[in-house]
Amino acid sequence: MDTSVSSSLFLLTTSIFLFFIFKMCFKPTKNLPPGPPRWPIIGNILQIGTKPHVTISIFAHQYGPLISLHLGTQLLVVASSASAALEILKTQDRVLSGRAVPNAFDHSFAPYYLVWSADCGEHWKLLRTLCRTEMFSPKAIEAQSSLRYEKVAQMMGYLHGKKQEVVNIGDVVFTTMFNTISNVFFGKDFINFEDELGKAGGLKGKLFNLLKDGIRPNISDFFPLVRRLDLQGLRRGNLKNIREVFSFWEDIIEERRVRINSLADEEKCFLDRLLENGFSNDQINICAMELFIAGVDTTTSTIEWAIAELLKNKEVMSKLKEELKYTNNSNVISEMQLHKCSYLNACIKETLRLHPAVPLLIPRRASEPCEVMSYTIPKSTQIFVNVWAIGRDSKVWEDPLLFNPERFIGSDLDFKGQDFEFIPFGAGRRMCPGLPAGIKSVQFILASLVSKFDWVLPNDEDPAKLDMNEKFGVTLQKEKPLQLIFKDFK
Ligand code: HEM
Repeated sequence: MDTSVSSSLFLLTTSIFLFFIFKMCFKPTKNLPPGPPRWPIIGNILQIGTKPHVTISIFAHQYGPLISLHLGTQLLVVASSASAALEILKTQDRVLSGRAVPNAFDHSFAPYYLVWSADCGEHWKLLRTLCRTEMFSPKAIEAQSSLRYEKVAQMMGYLHGKKQEVVNIGDVVFTTMFNTISNVFFGKDFINFEDELGKAGGLKGKLFNLLKDGIRPNISDFFPLVRRLDLQGLRRGNLKNIREVFSFWEDIIEERRVRINSLADEEKCFLDRLLENGFSNDQINICAMELFIAGVDTTTSTIEWAIAELLKNKEVMSKLKEELKYTNNSNVISEMQLHKCSYLNACIKETLRLHPAVPLLIPRRASEPCEVMSYTIPKSTQIFVNVWAIGRDSKVWEDPLLFNPERFIGSDLDFKGQDFEFIPFGAGRRMCPGLPAGIKSVQFILASLVSKFDWVLPNDEDPAKLDMNEKFGVTLQKEKPLQLIFKDFK
């Protein structure tokens, strides 16, 4: 055969072969939710920016309440309306209740996770049951009441010594919350109010590093084919951090393991319950770390945003102070009375509507293909729900950007996972189990800080101009931490 004919034949067969390989590997799924145009290979990575909740809500205005995004080869589907959230978190809850576990997390711990448990398997069920009965049941919450009084009293004592000094409110609340959870879990405090965030070797700083690394953009998440290579070294760094965090409490675990049989029932903490259930050290370590990460920052940022909004909205602040004065006429706030404070609870709800601590919920994963709003969701798609956008949807909320607690007065709307226009704790199987404890702490700490101090901004800054910019992370933080001074305390 003539060489030019044979090389043409070779070219033709190679092209046909490559075409079929390409079609097999990159078979487009039909009927995906719509979404913005994407670049070859990298997809929409460059369009997401540093505030994904805001970018995605802008996309939702253009493409509808359910959109597709491609980060590398990973498909993401994001819901931005109450009805889309209902289909994901209720109608398809069983199929969509897996978690998409970031590749920065070491996979050797995978069977022990609660928050990051890839599916709702046996270990996840056992942990949820133990949390519900031992930590978050009405009986357990009531039993923790004296602990909350003690921690809030310590916070107030610390603040009383800070008259006329600039106080970082987030830091103070963080310490209070951290020690509340550490006492429920381990029966002891871990940090003190003078601990600075970045102090080398400090537990607080190490947990912050873990939080930061968990959400850093990771090539392994965008291109799962190369995940084993850990090209940015995030998994290695994270594992080192995790081991250092564990070292803070490993001795306590050993000590309680030895004493477990000599402890009276009322002396037992959550750690003892885990030991009684045969948990290994690593299972306990992971559980403690996840509860600290899930419980401390969420509660702290909610309180910080609430105080920022109250400072900006003077009339709301006066009304709240008035309510707290009449409900709590003694010197100490009575935690028992706080569920009756309708204005306080409306302020908390309004804060969670405008500043949900977890703006995109924790990512879920489709364990099987399914349909949402008549679109196809392929297996292994990552699913996000933009709770931040839903809380600001002008089709649902009048003047959505206004901080107006009155909208919740006389309304049955609640955050218990039934009203999909207001789901700051999520909904369905993976809904936050810590809601009862989180809300109790937010009520008590916020009421104490508001009713006992008159807060002002440093340098007589005008609170109406307070910077309310957000910083996206595992939780939605104030970009500029709230620094305050009090002139007087009652
Ligand atoms: C104001 C306080 C809090 C807020 C706003 C909040 C919010 C959330 C949200 C949005 C989720 C994800 C739900 C989903 O994916 O559908 C979540 C999950 C979780 N939260 Fe909370 N949370 C708070 C306090 C707490 C506290 C105090 C604890 C425990 C000490 C806690 C423990 C957890 C756990 C363990 C999960 C994972 C549940 C699972 O995947 O099965 N949270 N939280």
